[in-house]
Amino acid sequence: MIFAGIVAGGCGSRVKSAVIPKQFIEIGGVPVIVRTVRAFLAVAEIDMVYVGIKPDWHEYTDELFERFGIDKKRVKVIDGGADRNGTVMNIANTIVADHGENKEDIILTHDAVRPFVTEKIIRDNISAMTEHSACGTYMPATDTIIKSDGEKVRETLNRSELYQAQTPQTFRLLDLRRNYESLSEEQKEKLTDTCSVFTSCGKDIYLVVGDALNFKITTDSDLRMANALAE
Ligand code: CTP
Repeated sequence: MIFAGIVAGGCGSRVKSAVIPKQFIEIGGVPVIVRTVRAFLAVAEIDMVYVGIKPDWHEYTDELFERFGIDKKRVKVIDGGADRNGTVMNIANTIVADHGENKEDIILTHDAVRPFVTEKIIRDNISAMTEHSACGTYMPATDTIIKSDGEKVRETLNRSELYQAQTPQTFRLLDLRRNYESLSEEQKEKLTDTCSVFTSCGKDIYLVVGDALNFKITTDSDLRMANALAE
């Protein structure tokens, strides 16, 4: 089976203007999280969409999904974890509890706050898994990126080798759980995304090309951009 795991358990503290977590903010009249879930539901190959949220937002999310006509048979809302990968692992473990552990099952993990993910990106992640054991979505760096201590430029990095990570990041559920469990608590704390669970274990990640529209709503200016796009 093919699952989507939408991570929505954060509080969005960097969007200063917001009074609710950014994933629940309406852009163009539709909440960010509803747009993201709809993008995955639109791909028929995805059997089920799991959404990990902060427990206090459970009732709110259920009502929201009801109001926006989200298909309850294909979407399950569960509790997120203390950090992003904690949410990913809660979703992975719930899927296995619900459907058993099947060697071929894959999970596309995705940030709830990337509502403009394209159908092509989702499909490219799914098809990459026929040949590769894990993949992530990346954009070639367009700006020059430097290393600095915050005061002076220490090094100008070779742009042709630099990419920005987006989501989805896609894995076999079995590998994800196995690799995560093999890490020490110290290693787990250092992870910045879910692909790093695999790179920390020396595993390869295949590159799927992202899209500038698939940006993450992180700050107020991202939210303004999202509103402009949605209008
Ligand atoms: N996330 C999650 N569980 C957590 C923390 C984050 O599922 N415990 C999710 C967020 O909801 C978001 C994604 O991970 O969809 C990317 O994280 P980020 O942009 O850092 O979101 P927040 O943690 O909400 O933002 P901030 O750091 O500004 O508080």
